[in-house]
Amino acid sequence: MTSRLLEFIDLQYTYPGGRGPVLSGLSLWIPEGKKCVLLGRNGCGKSTLFLHGNGIIEPQQGQVLWKGKPLVYKRAALQEMTQKVGLVFQDPEHQLIASTVAEDISYGLCNQKLPVDVIRAKVEKVLDAFGLRELAEAPIHHLSLGQKRRLALAGVMVMEPELLLLDEPTAYLDRYQTKNLLRELDAIHRQGTTVLMATHDMDIAFEWAEWICIMDEGRLVFAGDPQEALENRDMLESLHLGMPLLVDVWEALPEQWKRELGGNIPRSVDELRKMLSVQRVW
Ligand SMILES: Nc1ncnc2c1ncn2[C@@H]1O[C@H](COP(=O)(O)OP(=O)(O)OP(=O)(O)O)[C@@H](O)[C@H]1O
Ligand SMILES: [Mg+2]
Repeated sequence: MTSRLLEFIDLQYTYPGGRGPVLSGLSLWIPEGKKCVLLGRNGCGKSTLFLHGNGIIEPQQGQVLWKGKPLVYKRAALQEMTQKVGLVFQDPEHQLIASTVAEDISYGLCNQKLPVDVIRAKVEKVLDAFGLRELAEAPIHHLSLGQKRRLALAGVMVMEPELLLLDEPTAYLDRYQTKNLLRELDAIHRQGTTVLMATHDMDIAFEWAEWICIMDEGRLVFAGDPQEALENRDMLESLHLGMPLLVDVWEALPEQWKRELGGNIPRSVDELRKMLSVQRVW
């Protein structure tokens, strides 16, 4: 049975001075070990939910559980949570605090008061893993937005979190860096980290995810298998999320081909290629 790594139960949240509730009875759990994606239109509360994930925001009502236990909103316990649950903010400007790339990556490790040589070794490893070696001594304000995003992820990964919450990590990345990022996330996942990524990119979502959650107006409207979400076209369309390009390609195929290919919508070009090579339909 899949265990619940992080669970949100009936969360309610209204920002001070806000126009109304942003989270209104949101319940959702993140299955341990899976690559998860969170979908939902602008303003539905995804970033607000993420801020509840490691205790930055305390719920006004409802509960957040980590491995079945409620979060404790006290300084030491919260510091531990920020190490276990790494949050990469939507806007890297909210995350980067030191003056150079290497200093920024080492910031959290220095706070943990680790020995200097351990910190140095961890920083070196992450500089290579995220392609930031050449920028190690660069001042952060000289970086491009895409580079800042990569740095923000590196600064979180160096803490070796058990769960990684990524708030629209591919926004502003070019295609090459997007592919690199997804490859890096796969490697992170293979090493045992559970990942939850908020995104508006339906192609990435359905190609990459093993578990899909969909929010609307501060509530969960779907959680489950990506294939099941794809087959629920009416739901995706009513939420104005759009459809992955492959679904449109699939629907353009003759009915007989779709039947002969097994009827399941492929989730990636590779999957479609495999289906076509096994079953020659023309
Ligand atoms: N600090 C704040 N004070 C008041 N209202 C806020 C604040 N931050 C967000 N909101 C409001 O809360 C709602 C949800 O915002 P949130 O950023 O969580 O949505 P989101 O799903 O992440 O959207 P997006 O896809 O655009 O990133 C929005 O209506 C937003 O205007
Ligand atoms: Mg957001």
